[in-house]
Amino acid sequence: MSDIIHLLPDSVANQIAAGEVIQRPASVIKGLVENAIDAEAQEIHVLVTDAGKTCIQVIDDGKGMSETDARLAFERHATSKIKEAADLFALRTMGFRGEALASVAAVAEVELKTRTANEELGTRIVIAGSKVESQEAVSCPKGSNFSIKNLFFNIPARRKFLKANSTELSNILTEFERIALVHPEVAFYLYSNDTELFNLPVMPLRQRILAVFGKKLNQYLLSVDVDTTMVKVSGFVAKPETARKKGAHQYFFVNGRYMRHPYFHKAVMDAYEQLIPAGEQISYFIYFEVDPANIDVNIHPTKTEIKFENEQAIWQILSASVKESLGKFNAVPSIDFDTEGMPDIPAFDQTRPIEPPKVHYNSDFNPFKTSSASSYSGGNYSRPKVDWEGLYDGLEKASKMNAPMWRKQIGLLRPEGLICPKNVHRMYRKRRLLLPYLRRCMLMSRQWKRGRSIFNSRDVLF
Ligand SMILES: Nc1ncnc2c1ncn2[C@@H]1O[C@H](COP(=O)(O)OP(=O)(O)O)[C@@H](O)[C@H]1O
Ligand SMILES: [Mg+2]
Repeated sequence: MSDIIHLLPDSVANQIAAGEVIQRPASVIKGLVENAIDAEAQEIHVLVTDAGKTCIQVIDDGKGMSETDARLAFERHATSKIKEAADLFALRTMGFRGEALASVAAVAEVELKTRTANEELGTRIVIAGSKVESQEAVSCPKGSNFSIKNLFFNIPARRKFLKANSTELSNILTEFERIALVHPEVAFYLYSNDTELFNLPVMPLRQRILAVFGKKLNQYLLSVDVDTTMVKVSGFVAKPETARKKGAHQYFFVNGRYMRHPYFHKAVMDAYEQLIPAGEQISYFIYFEVDPANIDVNIHPTKTEIKFENEQAIWQILSASVKESLGKFNAVPSIDFDTEGMPDIPAFDQTRPIEPPKVHYNSDFNPFKTSSASSYSGGNYSRPKVDWEGLYDGLEKASKMNAPMWRKQIGLLRPEGLICPKNVHRMYRKRRLLLPYLRRCMLMSRQWKRGRSIFNSRDVLF
């Protein structure tokens, strides 16, 4: 039998490889934006038409490419980021496989205009289905400007496989957010059919998260910050009260790269055990910094699955650091108080001078001496007039204090919290805790409402 094996032409090999790397418009955006970050861009603009099916444009102000590099960049396994296998374990760049541009050029019509800082003229190259159609000098700003048109124009089956525009756009947003959330030092802009979807100038990390997911999240974010010799863990976790069944924002990043990590996810959820109902999720944005020698990024073509050398130890560190944040910010509720519409209970005013009680007595009183007055009346002794109004002075003043000391010390009530009998009952029923304390609260609360009549009738308060 004659030999039947032959090498595939590059264009076919590239198309096969593209199947792994480029599945949809969002994958193109991921590849191009990651390249722009690696090129040290300060500002990245992404424009999509018809959810990227018709056109994707990524414009950056990064290093740009020379004429030769621009041509070579579209070859498979062509990269400026690594030189030898050992470099795989010292990676500081997003890309390294040298296949994004080759894959995109295999399945779409690509135009690149690019210029480096030390060249006056840039270069424009047009490639479609892995074939270079033209390359010429062009006047353009420093940086790179990629236009990707008619994705999968030469693979109809794949083009048909694309979902509705709304779904593809949502995939684009997901990829875009994953990159924007880990590079607050870069400005990002996203437009869909000329509508601006994101306008993210350079800002601190917390602000970047809020700019992406809304300012409301601010009050619920607790910061996480732990630095060990093995790993640095930073970022934010949400307070337990934000737990929900669906739609939590859950992000892990390692050395500036988004990753999925079900094992570490369990470490975060472990910290919330007993704090949120089973089956509910919490938002988190956690950033790991590790020595690149201790992770393997090259276990998946999309580089979102990453193998850590010390997974178990990092699991423990992560869980402990989340627990610490929850504890430090008092996010662990002790008693569930519904404090709306309740009267305040005044606290003891420490600034008021404490006066020793005065004893009034009649030194002439003789019980055996008969007189017109009853012996029990105390003779000519008259009871001093009590200033009942004065009793309220302290109460009113104290009620104006924001955070009564004793409440803070007991640590049961929120400083701004109020108590109402309904709640006290409920709490009493539910928890059967602190009985004498609660009874005191109830009576004081009732007292406060009814006011002077009860004080005057000298009911037993406690
Ligand atoms: N936006 C860009 N600015 C400057 N250089 C770029 C840009 N995009 C790609 N390149 C160059 O093209 C090369 C190939 O890119 P790519 O196919 O994505 O592979 P990788 O990113 O894995 O190296 C990169 O290594 C880089 O040198
Ligand atoms: Mg790349």
